Amino acid sequence: MCGIVGYLGEKEKKEILIEGLGELEYRGYDSAGIAVMAGEELRHFKAVGKLENLKRKAENFESEGYGVAIGHTRWATHGKPTELNAHPHSGAFSYVVHNGIIENYQQIRERLEKEGVNFLSQTDTETIVHLFEYAIKRGMDPHEAFVETIGELEGAFAILLISRAEPEKIFFAKNGSPLLIATDGEDIYFASSDTAVIGRAKEAYYLEDGEYGWAERGRLAIFREKEMVEAHFKNLPSDKAMARKEGYRFFMEKEIYEQSRVIADTMLGRVLDEGIFFEELEESFFDGIENIEICACGTSYHSALAASYLFERVAKIECRVEIASEFRYKEPLLSKRTLFITISQSGETADTLEALKMAKKSGLKTLSICNVDNSSIVRLSDATLLTRAGIEKGVASTKAFATQMMVLWMLVLYLAKRRGAIEACRLEEELEAMRKAPKVLMVAESLHQRIHRLSKRYLHGHGFFYIGRDLFYPLALEGALKLKEISYLHAEGYPAGEMKHGPIALADSELFTIALMPSSVLYEKMRSNVEELSARDATILAISPERFDIADDFIETRYSEHPMLEFFEMMVVTQLLALEISVRLGNDVDMPRNLAKSVTVE
Ligand code: AGP
Repeated sequence: MCGIVGYLGEKEKKEILIEGLGELEYRGYDSAGIAVMAGEELRHFKAVGKLENLKRKAENFESEGYGVAIGHTRWATHGKPTELNAHPHSGAFSYVVHNGIIENYQQIRERLEKEGVNFLSQTDTETIVHLFEYAIKRGMDPHEAFVETIGELEGAFAILLISRAEPEKIFFAKNGSPLLIATDGEDIYFASSDTAVIGRAKEAYYLEDGEYGWAERGRLAIFREKEMVEAHFKNLPSDKAMARKEGYRFFMEKEIYEQSRVIADTMLGRVLDEGIFFEELEESFFDGIENIEICACGTSYHSALAASYLFERVAKIECRVEIASEFRYKEPLLSKRTLFITISQSGETADTLEALKMAKKSGLKTLSICNVDNSSIVRLSDATLLTRAGIEKGVASTKAFATQMMVLWMLVLYLAKRRGAIEACRLEEELEAMRKAPKVLMVAESLHQRIHRLSKRYLHGHGFFYIGRDLFYPLALEGALKLKEISYLHAEGYPAGEMKHGPIALADSELFTIALMPSSVLYEKMRSNVEELSARDATILAISPERFDIADDFIETRYSEHPMLEFFEMMVVTQLLALEISVRLGNDVDMPRNLAKSVTVE
């Protein structure tokens, strides 16, 4: 999804912008651009495609001395990914970059066009810069003009604007899309995510919805409803290395291998001998809670779905799971006895955020499970359990999913104990299994090699069915999502017992079935379901600790003593399979076509 960076200071502005945009590349984009004002000179560069193209275009440009600069990576929403539609958008003397969607842009555009304003692009963003300049033409000073402009906008936005009318300032505004201001003690940086400024800035202020203002050398003015706001800056991590590939071919690969380590981080200080402890949660937080509703999207939805089996089975608490974009418009019946959980890697997913706002509005207690501290979802929730996966760069989520599952498993045990739903010896067994998870998640070289070899047989066919039962059904959904995201092959996740109610009609030798066959959960049932498919000549790749002769291909797993250990082990297998198929097909594993890392529009 779109990324924003801004800089105000003496350093080489082009480099800072392009470097910052590079750190946001993982979010997905289809064009990029920068605008730099140094002294009297206001220059801009835009290019379709990768940042390399932009770099080439701006190769001979250098700016000296104090100046202001803004940059953007665009993921097309209104208008095709062309150079004209790329940001920054300009008027006669100003430039703007914007994330989000201006919902009333058509009305504004028509009005301004009637006044003789000429639009160059098809974007909603261009209206912002024209509104601003139109207000100046009507006699307002730049500050008034900016306030007037953002007052007219409906929808979600994070905006940076620079103008010859006030050449030493950057104007900014945030409503519904993330934006932060950071500093190294001297210069000022702006970004839609702190990834872009880590390593340069030391601390950051994460703007709240409705905040706007301007920055200039040595001064920052932030307002909310015309009142000045005091910014409380938070320290930023300095470790940029975390965000690099460290010798792996792709971030996704590195992140698969990291899962063992990050899951140990997730557990640190939380898995104790006597049970689960969450420093972040007051004991009383769950008082009066009778059931759970979870909302999420994509991979996060899959972790929610898997956890719902555990909440009901182990913690004996009713749990409903909804895709956030569906929840938003179904006019759901909500009860104050429901704990509303949102799960999100980024903490910025628009649909999940809106679902959370709805729950808050209805007075529900809210808990988020999130990977990004200070993200919008975290800030809005009553309480948060951070997943501690570290920055996840691959668009296809891997370690975020693993850590979400771990936090959810821990929460299940925490609630099970609190509700008296679990016996002491069973809790002990669960904790013992939990402590083995980091080992289970270690990637054995031999397994990776085997999957690499097998992958060459799975590059064609008319589709993949990932099938599983119980907990392993959401894992099948997740396995299929991973494959389709990065291989562009059609894949579906299905509950194995449902195949005979329709999809089995597709079975022939060109239908690839990836069968998740744990020995600890419904093994015999699963076996019969796979036999039914095999009898119709489907090609079967079985993943199981039990040898399975009728499978065409077989990946033997090692840990069968607990469903969650089987879950984690099979998860790694499905991730590696997707990775290797995608690599063989020559795809960009980390930045698959049409996808964005953080989906901040609905
Ligand atoms: C995962 O591989 C996906 N790219 C995607 O489904 C993602 O999980 C979804 O967009 C939700 O994102 P979030 O966890 O940041 O809210």
